[in-house]
Amino acid sequence: MDERLYNSRFMKATRGEDVDCTPVWLMRQAGRYMKDYRDVRARGTFMDLCTKPELACEVTVTAQEKLGADAAILFADLLPVMIEMGFDLEYIEGKGPTIHNPVKQAADVDRIKTHDPKQTMPFTAESVRQIRAALKPDIPLIGFAGLPFTLAAYAIEGGGSKHYIDVKRFMWSDTGAWNALCERFVDTLIPYSLMQIEAGVQAFQFFDSWVGSLSPQDYREYVQPHVKRVFAGVREGMKAMGKDIPLIHFGVGTATFLHLQHECGGDVLGMDWHTPIRANWEKLEGLKSVQGNLDPITLYAPWETLKRKADEVLDDVGNKPGHIFNLGHGILPKTPVDNVIDLVKYVHERTAR
Ligand code: CP3
Repeated sequence: MDERLYNSRFMKATRGEDVDCTPVWLMRQAGRYMKDYRDVRARGTFMDLCTKPELACEVTVTAQEKLGADAAILFADLLPVMIEMGFDLEYIEGKGPTIHNPVKQAADVDRIKTHDPKQTMPFTAESVRQIRAALKPDIPLIGFAGLPFTLAAYAIEGGGSKHYIDVKRFMWSDTGAWNALCERFVDTLIPYSLMQIEAGVQAFQFFDSWVGSLSPQDYREYVQPHVKRVFAGVREGMKAMGKDIPLIHFGVGTATFLHLQHECGGDVLGMDWHTPIRANWEKLEGLKSVQGNLDPITLYAPWETLKRKADEVLDDVGNKPGHIFNLGHGILPKTPVDNVIDLVKYVHERTAR
C-alpha cells in the first residue's frame, strides 16, 4: 500500500496507533441529504449510480471532499449482489428496496445461485479503480458488503422490515434451508469482497445492519458461523493475493453480543449509540480499533446540542488510540449538510493532540 495511505489517520487508527487527531468518516456520507448527490441522482436511477463507475466516482469523491472526511466509502449498495443470485430487486421511490420474489419456503432456496462477481459485476471493480484514481493520495477508500443475516432479511421479508417475523420463523423452523441460504450468501460475498480488495480498496466494512433484532443466543446459533466463514474466507483470499487490509464489522443494536461479533475476526468493531464505547472496548480483548457512535439524529439538532452530543462520545473515548469517529448508523435524508461539515471539523479540532 502506498505510504501516504498506510500512514493516513484513518489507517493508523485501524491499527490502534497514535494519530494527530481522531479520524472521521460517516456512514452514508454520500446520500440524498446532499444536494450534489441529488443533482447526480437526477440524471439517472439509483441502480445507474451503482452500475456506472463515472457516476459512482463522482458522488463518492464529492462527498469526501465536501465533508473533509478522513476516508471515502465506495458508492454502491448492499443488495445488487443478490440480483445474479436470482432475486428480482427493485428500488421503489418512497418505499425502498423491494424483492419481488422473496424466499418464503425451504424449496425456494433451491433456485438461489451463487455467482462470480468478477464476471457479473465488473462495474463495481471499475468504480473502485476510478474512485481510487480520483481521490487524494492520502484518503483511504473503504469497500463494503452486507453480511448473511442482513441480506437474508431482505431475501425473506421481500423488503425492509420492522419485526423480522418471516426471517425469524424461517431461521428457527427451516434451519436446514436457512443454513443453505446463508451459505450461498457466504459463497458470493467472499469473491465479491475480494474483487473490491483486488481492485484497490484500503479497508473493508461488513454491514450487518439488522442483526440487532436477534438475541445473543440466536446470533450465536444461526448467524455467527456464517459470519466467521465470511471473515475467514476473505482473510484467506487476501493472503493469496498478498494483501492484508483492515476489516470493519458493523451492526446496530448488538450491545449484548459484541463479544460474539468480535469472535468473528474483524479488526475494527462498529458500535452504535446504545453502546458506550470505552467500557465495552475494554471488555473485548485484543480489539485494536472501534468505530462510532454518535446518534445520527443529533445531526438534526441545533449546533450547541450536536456539539454536546459529540463531546459525550469524545469524552467517553478519551482520545484512546484506535478510535474512528463515525455515527452509530447512516446519515438520513434531510440532514442539514452544514451540520455534517461542522461536525467533521469540530472532531478534528477538539481531538488534536
Ligand atoms: O455514502 C455511503 O455510505 C455510500 C454507499 C451506501 C449506500 N447504501 C447508498 C444508498 C452504503 C454503504 C449503503 C449500505 C446499505 N444499503 C445498508 C447498510 C447501511 C445501513 O444503513 O445500515 C442497507 C441496509 C442498504 C439497503 C438500502 N439501500 C436501503 C435501506 C436504502 C434506502 C431506501 C430508502 O429509499 O430510504 C437503499 C438505497 C440507498 N443506498 C440510497 C443510497 C444513497 C438512497 C437511494 C436513492 O438515491 O434514492
